[in-house]
Amino acid sequence: MADLRSSYMGIQLKNPIIVSSSHLTSSLDKILECDQAGAGAIVLKSLFEEQILADTKEDLEGVNLLAHADAMDFFQGMGKKKNLEEYLEILRDAKAKVSCPLIASLNCVTTGSWLNYADKLEEAGADALELNFFILPVNFKQNSEEIENRYMALYKEVQKRVKIPIAMKLGSYFSSLAQLAQKLSNAGVNGLVFFNRFYRPDININTMELKTGKILSEPIEISQTLHWTALLSGRVRADIASNTGIHDGEALIKVLLAGASAAQICSTLSKNGLSYISTMLKDLEIWMNKNNFPSVADFQGKLASENIDNPEFYERAQYIRAIAGLG
Ligand SMILES: Cc1cc2nc3c(=O)[nH]c(=O)nc-3n(C[C@H](O)[C@H](O)[C@H](O)COP(=O)(O)O)c2cc1C
Repeated sequence: MADLRSSYMGIQLKNPIIVSSSHLTSSLDKILECDQAGAGAIVLKSLFEEQILADTKEDLEGVNLLAHADAMDFFQGMGKKKNLEEYLEILRDAKAKVSCPLIASLNCVTTGSWLNYADKLEEAGADALELNFFILPVNFKQNSEEIENRYMALYKEVQKRVKIPIAMKLGSYFSSLAQLAQKLSNAGVNGLVFFNRFYRPDININTMELKTGKILSEPIEISQTLHWTALLSGRVRADIASNTGIHDGEALIKVLLAGASAAQICSTLSKNGLSYISTMLKDLEIWMNKNNFPSVADFQGKLASENIDNPEFYERAQYIRAIAGLG
C-alpha cells in the first residue's frame, strides 16, 4: 500500500489533501464529516476580523462588505452569529473529536489590537493558524513596498502571540511574489498557500447591472497555482500548500510533482461531495503504484523548477518557443 503521508509546516498529514477554509468547514458537524471523509487536515472557516470586532462592540453595523471577497457568505447570513466564542467552541469540540490536524483561519484587513485574540485559537487546540490577509492593490497612493510591508507586519504581530505554525494564504497580485514569499519565509512563516481565490465581480449585459462572478473555481484555474508552486517550492523555506483549481486526482499529482506539501481543495468537494476525497486519493495511489513510488516523498517536487534540467520551461524562454510554434 502506498504511503500517502506528507509533512506540512512540520505537521504530519496522513495524506496531502486539506479541505480549505470555506462553507465546508463552518460547523462542528461539517468538520467531523470532512474528517470522516479522510481529509489529511482541515482549515476551519475563517474567523473574520469584523466578527471579533463585532463581538466586542456587539455591532456589525458599518462593516466594509467589500473588504473581504470570501466574506460574502458570512455577511449573507451563513455565519452571522458565529462570534469569537462560538468559533472557539467549534474548534475545541472538533479538536476533541477529529483525528486529523485542524488549522484555524483568521481573515484580516488590519493589524489592530483584535489580533490579541489569535492566542485564543491556539489555546482552543488549533494545530496551526492560517492568515487570510488581503489588500486589493487599488489605492493609487500606496506603492507595492507599502503593501508588502503590511503583510510582513501582520505576520510579525501574530507570530508574537502564538507558538503554533503559521501559514499565509496569499493572492497572486504581487509585483514581486518571489521576494515577498522569501521575506515571509525568512521571517519564519511556516506555510504559504498559493493562491486564495478572491471574489470576482461580473456584469449582466441584459440588465446592465453588477453581479457576483463564479463562486466556485474551474479546473483550468490550476495553471497559475501549478506555475507558482513549481517556481517557488524548495526555493523558499516555507512549505507550500497549493490552492485554487485542484479538482481531481490528476491535479493533485501535478501540484505534488511541482513541489507542494499539500493541496487545499474546496470547489471540487462542493461539486462532487466529500466522498471525492477518497476518489482523489485512490487515483493518487494507483498512479504511485504504476510509477513505482512507494511514498509521496519519493516524487514530491520532482518537477519543481529547482529540480529540473530545463527550469526555463517555467519561465519566459519556453513561452516564446510556444508562441513561435503557433506561427
Ligand atoms: C463559499 C466559499 C466560502 C469561502 N470562505 C473562505 C473563508 O472563509 N476563508 C478563506 O480563507 N477562504 C475561503 N474560501 C476560499 C477557499 O478556501 C479556496 O481558497 C478557494 O475556493 C479556491 O480553492 P478551490 O479552487 O479548491 O475552490 C471560500 C470559498 C468558497 C467557495
